[in-house]
Amino acid sequence: MLNTSIHVKSVTIPNRVVLQPMEGCDCNTDGSLSPLTEAKYIRAAKSGAGLIWFEACAVCPEGRTNPRQMMLSRDNLPVFRDFLAVMRRISKTIFGFNPILILQLTHSGRQSITPMIAYRHPLYEERRPVTDENIVTDEYLDTLPALYAESAKLAVEAGFDGVDVKSCHGYLFQELLSAFHRPGRYGGSFENRSRLYMDCLAAVKAAVPERCLLTTRLSVSDMVPKPYGFGTTEENELDFTEPDLLISHMVEMGLDILNVTVGNPYYNPHVNRPYRKGGYNPPETPDVGLARFETIEKHIKDRFSTLAVVGSGLSYYRDDLMKQAERLLTEGICDLVGFGRTWLAYPDFYRDYRAGVFYPKMTCLACSKCTELMRAGKVSGCAVYNSYYRRLYKEIKK
Ligand SMILES: Cc1cc2nc3c(=O)[nH]c(=O)nc-3n(C[C@H](O)[C@H](O)[C@H](O)COP(=O)(O)O)c2cc1C
Repeated sequence: MLNTSIHVKSVTIPNRVVLQPMEGCDCNTDGSLSPLTEAKYIRAAKSGAGLIWFEACAVCPEGRTNPRQMMLSRDNLPVFRDFLAVMRRISKTIFGFNPILILQLTHSGRQSITPMIAYRHPLYEERRPVTDENIVTDEYLDTLPALYAESAKLAVEAGFDGVDVKSCHGYLFQELLSAFHRPGRYGGSFENRSRLYMDCLAAVKAAVPERCLLTTRLSVSDMVPKPYGFGTTEENELDFTEPDLLISHMVEMGLDILNVTVGNPYYNPHVNRPYRKGGYNPPETPDVGLARFETIEKHIKDRFSTLAVVGSGLSYYRDDLMKQAERLLTEGICDLVGFGRTWLAYPDFYRDYRAGVFYPKMTCLACSKCTELMRAGKVSGCAVYNSYYRRLYKEIKK
């Protein structure tokens, strides 16, 4: 089933393989693509994936996680436009189709270079201390829908087929969803906590042509106990009440694709990307995390039949990767299968699979070295199979 196309609105996605957004922290300081960024996306174009979901792209300089985060502006738009044309040409030549290209728009909130937080969070602040001065004002938040709309317009001009209004992994919109104790228009009630996210989606929708895919990557649950997490109970159990409400509003607004994710990699990384080796001993085994993904994806797919659902978190499977991806599709758990760390480790995994020469030994080891590079302030990539990143990784370990 992986090789079958799927129609979303007027768009045909040539197969069910999604290359998930994987930030490289390697753009030029104006946010445009550096040779390293381009090399990564050329590998993506050669992979045969039907949908390439570009990494986090900040809507404003103060919303960047690092000075080399992607950012699209009127000035650097020609770089993106020319490069997307190159990617399409490559894919057309090798596979005979254009991949669908989506840009992820983001504001990094608490993880910005200077933290911009929704509210004081006792659990997250154990790791990165902040003060009340880091709390963003309502007046600042009011300015963001216009910035999202402008970035979305630029994305369409650059040639992207869709935009993602990102709300996941503890970044600004995701944190607002659990701002139960924030006063004012953006805190307290569900309507207030989801206001900015919905306003930005509406602003983006109004700014782009009908053919543009409206998408979001949502941490359906933070897996952080209420009142410090979204989509959970006080006992930190999954609670779909508010996620269901939120998604139903987004579907009414015309959301086309929901890329499901879960957790906050700065706080509970095992939830977001089940791994074999990482910075700490997770309180659950990877199969618990993998089952959680499936429960969430199936729940959403069953309730929102008009939505195309992208599944996440599969790279842990290694040898079993493609079999599991096929299973998720045939069992109706999701409509498209997302591969994150996999495509950094083994960019040709799908091309090889199509050709019947998939090589399991090249798949991601789920060792977290790509994240370690990022957290060390370096550019990020696979430090196991790619010699450039391997060398960098050795340097940070010295
Ligand atoms: C180095 C690195 C960079 C990432 N960058 C992004 C990003 O820009 N946007 C995003 O939504 N998720 C990002 N993620 C999360 C992945 O897209 C994906 O959800 C996660 O790795 C789990 O999927 P996997 O098991 O296939 O790797 C990143 C993860 C890693 C390890």
